[in-house]
Amino acid sequence: MMLAPLRSSPQFHPSHRFACLRRARAGAAAVSLALSCSFAAAAAAQEAASGSQAYVPQVGQQGKDVVWVPTPQALVDKMLEMAQATPADNLLDLGSGDGRTVITAAGRGIRAHGIEYNPEMADLARRNAAAAGVADRATFATADLFESNLSGYSVITMFLLPAINDRLRPRLLELKPGTRIVSNSFPMGEWAPDQQATVGGDCQTWCTALLWIVPAQIGGNWKLGGQELKLEQTFQQVSGTLGGEPLRDVVLRGDEISFRAGTAVYRGKVDGNTMEGERSKGAPAWRATRA
Ligand SMILES: C[S@@+](CC[C@H](N)C(=O)[O-])C[C@H]1O[C@@H](n2cnc3c(N)ncnc32)[C@H](O)[C@@H]1O
Repeated sequence: MMLAPLRSSPQFHPSHRFACLRRARAGAAAVSLALSCSFAAAAAAQEAASGSQAYVPQVGQQGKDVVWVPTPQALVDKMLEMAQATPADNLLDLGSGDGRTVITAAGRGIRAHGIEYNPEMADLARRNAAAAGVADRATFATADLFESNLSGYSVITMFLLPAINDRLRPRLLELKPGTRIVSNSFPMGEWAPDQQATVGGDCQTWCTALLWIVPAQIGGNWKLGGQELKLEQTFQQVSGTLGGEPLRDVVLRGDEISFRAGTAVYRGKVDGNTMEGERSKGAPAWRATRA
């Protein structure tokens, strides 16, 4: 299983890197589809015209915290699909490599931004975006993702490492509830994904995506009508009581909550220290505030 050797280290150990390289090369034939037709050819033509030397990154080349391995295009597409990304979104790719996720998103009308530490990769991504005709929506910063602001985006994509995901997790959990985070292959420690999917077909390696939806922070004591609502929360998992009676079927997805209490079904939205919404069976709307 490919995850095991990578879990142990924040950077690929040289032997893992070699294994990674071999895997990545096996996948590279399929992956090359991603860029070869759409924008690499155009970029090469542009470079030939300008007389500049093409920068050709090597799969497995050293990066600051992670080597460069491109996400197979089929998985890029799957990641955007799982995030339900639309032109209403604003996407950020952490460690954006040759820019494929950002450029694919921009091609779908989404404003997208990549953060890439390696200046040559960031320049390549900018050229690829220009060649794909999406430079107005696809932008790249040459920067360290650990020094960068992650707020203001509704979708965050990444293909990093488990240890880096763990390091980022506290910052990701502070983002606006409902923010979708999609990772190529690597988990987020104890924060279980809301969804996971693997693409088949030509995809040989790095073919699994994991999706998390940043949950609203709702643990604690609330007042709902004249009753006490007590909630315990671990990431998106919530349990609790209303008037001392256990809640059933509690689902928290971003800022949307639903649960059963007694014979009623409660559905609502969380907004800071308030949550409110509809109740089943024609019962009056409900509203809870932090006690
Ligand atoms: C595994 S590649 C993924 C590239 C791209 N996101 C994709 O899915 O095709 C990881 C990328 O992160 C970049 N990187 C590594 N450490 C970084 C850091 N601290 N800040 C920004 N980029 C970083 C590497 O240069 C590399 O391009």
